[in-house]
Amino acid sequence: MSKSYNIAVIPGDGTGPEVVAEGLKVVHAVSEKEGFKINLTSFDFGGERYLKTREVLPDSAVDDLSKFDAIYLGAIGHPDVKPGILEKGILLRLRFELDQYINLRPVKLYPGIECPLKDKGPEHIDFVVVRENTEGLYAGAGGFLKKGTPDEVAVQESINTRKGVERCIRYAFEYCRKRNREKKLTLCGKTNVLTYAFDLWERTFNEIAKEYTDIKADYAHVDAITMWFVKNPEWFDVIVTDNMFGDIITDLGAMIQGGMGIAAGGNLNPEGVSMFEPIGGSAPKYTGRNMINPLAAISAAGLMLDYLGEENAGRKIEDAVMNVTAHHLKSLAAGQMGMTTTGVGDLVTKFALE
Ligand code: IPM
Ligand code: MN
Repeated sequence: MSKSYNIAVIPGDGTGPEVVAEGLKVVHAVSEKEGFKINLTSFDFGGERYLKTREVLPDSAVDDLSKFDAIYLGAIGHPDVKPGILEKGILLRLRFELDQYINLRPVKLYPGIECPLKDKGPEHIDFVVVRENTEGLYAGAGGFLKKGTPDEVAVQESINTRKGVERCIRYAFEYCRKRNREKKLTLCGKTNVLTYAFDLWERTFNEIAKEYTDIKADYAHVDAITMWFVKNPEWFDVIVTDNMFGDIITDLGAMIQGGMGIAAGGNLNPEGVSMFEPIGGSAPKYTGRNMINPLAAISAAGLMLDYLGEENAGRKIEDAVMNVTAHHLKSLAAGQMGMTTTGVGDLVTKFALE
């Protein structure tokens, strides 16, 4: 009997459904060719549902989603919903409650894509950020004192547990070994100022590094990292960091790989269910116009198949995406691709089947 995977799909808001449709088009084609099955179940979580029902995420959602092999997410964010409600109520809640403790973000400049960095090409930009995804400043610890008065105090604490830090660092060492490139893992921190949180990170990192003598253990401060991303991105292989720093440096990473039209990521729970998403937002002004670039969503689908163990399928999708960027796409920007959203999806599908 052929393998089959149950995938929960959350198309979400704005252009989310359009790009997800292209990702699934590619997945279906590749799955047939590779001999596995994909069963889809769609969930309507997002801004529209919230505006209709005033419920961000039903309580059953986490339980329901945890039964799938993976989750494929389009985009969350609606112009009529106050910023923060959907992001925290859907995206962050799922990351936390499904314990997706790794945010895996490949930063790779594909051929044919214009890089904003002078004299840098695909041979210089190919690294992966392993971002801790459930703790740090995102944990929601803190509060107000005397809110709304001149004496107001706001505290936002960064939570770093030994367990949380260790499992993230361990994952990064394992990932770096499996990736088998430079075999270099860089801890991105701020040990010169954040002397509690990053003391724990650094101690844990150095301890675990002793178990991975084949991997070069490296360290850089987060501010310096942003500088090196621009000046010498070729120095990096795998980077591990906390939630907040990871959020910031992966946006910079997305820009040096060409922008939000191409950047994809995975929210991983290696012991549970993982969720894959394009990094860009819901781009409401392009909704329904067949103009948005679906490559990030297609790449997220490729990451998902690779993660599920269908490495051939994942590789085929990435090769097909690279073929499109190298020879067929004018730009990654919506409306300037020289192709429609569905046209890009069709072309990736065609190349993935070759
Ligand atoms: C990301 C996003 C999210 C984050 C937002 C939408 C809550 O920026 O996935 O990087 O901050 O983690
Ligand atoms: Mn972000």
